Amino acid sequence: MHVGRRIGLPDDELWNLYYTLLLKDLGCSSNAARICELYLTDDLAFKHDFKAVGDSVPQVLNFVLAHTGLQAPLAERFRAVLNILRNGVELADELIQTRCQRGAEIARQLRFPESVATGIYHLDEHYNGRGRPDGLSGQQIPLFSRIALMAQVIDVFHTSGGPHAAMEELTHRREQWFDPELVDAFQAVADDSFWRQLADPGITSAVLALEPASQIVPLDEDYLDDIATAFGQIVDSKSPYTSGHSARVALYVDLMAETIGLNAERRRWLKRGALLHDIGKLGVSNSILDKPGKLDEDEWVVVHMHAKYTEAILSRMDAFSELARIAGAHHERLDGKGYPRGLTAIDIPTETRIITCADIFDAITAARPYRGAIPIDKTLQIMSESVGTAIDPECFEILKSTVHRLPEMIV
Ligand SMILES: [Fe+2]
Ligand SMILES: [Fe+2]
Repeated sequence: MHVGRRIGLPDDELWNLYYTLLLKDLGCSSNAARICELYLTDDLAFKHDFKAVGDSVPQVLNFVLAHTGLQAPLAERFRAVLNILRNGVELADELIQTRCQRGAEIARQLRFPESVATGIYHLDEHYNGRGRPDGLSGQQIPLFSRIALMAQVIDVFHTSGGPHAAMEELTHRREQWFDPELVDAFQAVADDSFWRQLADPGITSAVLALEPASQIVPLDEDYLDDIATAFGQIVDSKSPYTSGHSARVALYVDLMAETIGLNAERRRWLKRGALLHDIGKLGVSNSILDKPGKLDEDEWVVVHMHAKYTEAILSRMDAFSELARIAGAHHERLDGKGYPRGLTAIDIPTETRIITCADIFDAITAARPYRGAIPIDKTLQIMSESVGTAIDPECFEILKSTVHRLPEMIV
C-alpha cells in the first residue's frame, strides 16, 4: 500500500489494490492437497519456503530435496524426487494454474471488481516473462499483480532474514521478477519506521487503517450468503477427504432447521454457520488433515485447533460474530469430552447441536478416497451409539426424519 501511494494511485485504485493484496492467496487451499501428494510434505511450510526460491536450477533442486518426503520412507522419497525432477515445470504449472483460477473465481464470487480478480490471477507473473500462468512480461502484467508479488517476496525475506535480506533480494530480482520502477518506489518508502511497523505485534490494526475510506460496500443478507458460500468452498477445496463437506453440512442443517420450523431469517443465519463451521481448517496442514494412518498425540492437538480458529476468525467480523461461538463449538460433546473447551450439555446451544449432528452424519456417510460412501441406515445406526453422549437426542430424531426425506428430494 505504501508503494501504491508512492506511485500516486487514486483512492479507488488503492481500494482495489488493498483487496488484491489481502485476498491474493484465496485460491491457495485448492492446491494444498496436491502439494502434499506430490512432495509428501507439509503444505504450509512448503508454500512459505517456495516463495523464497528464485529461478536458478541449484536453488530449485535444493528446495525440492529439502522439502520432499522428510517423513516418508526412502524409496518413496526417491520416487517423489524423480517425479518432480522429470516433470517439475509441468507440475509447477499445474499447481499455479489451479491456484490462479480458483483465486480469481472466488474474488468474483465475493463481488470484487475485475481488476482485483485479474490481479490475483496474474500474481506469479515475472517482469522478465518467465512467470506463470501466462508468461506475461513488463507492463503487460497487471499493476496490482506486480506490486503483490514484490510485497510477498519482501515479506518472506523480511520474516526469515530481516530488512537487509529483503532489500538485497529486491535488488537481486529487479528486472527479473520485479518492475524496476516499483522497486525504486519501495526503496523510497522503506525507511526505519516502515520496518519497525512491519515487525510490530500490532500490525493488524495498522493494516486495517490502510484501507482507503472512500468506498463503502453495502452488506446485505444476500451478500453475506455469498461470502459464507465462497469461504465454505475455499475450505472444501483444501482436501479431497472433505470435498463438499461444508456445503452438505449446510444442506442438512438447513433441512433440519426447516423440520423444526425455525423462521426464515434464523434459518439463513444458521446455514451460514454451517458453511463456515470448519473455516479454521485453513490453518491446519494437509499433511495432518489428509494423513492416511492414525494421528499421534501432537497431531491431534493441531487438528483440535481448527475449532478454536473457527471461533477466532468468525468473531472478528461483526456480521458473523454471533455465529463464532455457535460454529466454533461443533466438536463439543454433551458429556464434556469434546473440544476446544470441554463444555457440558448445559453450555451447548441448540444451534450448535444441530450443526454437530449434521457434521457427524456427513463425516460418516460421505465417500472417502480410501472407502466408499456408507448408506444412510448404517450411518444412523453408528450414530445411535453416541446419542446422549456426543449427539443430542432431539437433534438425532430431527436428523432421522430429515434424511429419510432426502431420497425423494433428490429424485
Ligand atoms: Fe470440524
Ligand atoms: Fe466438519
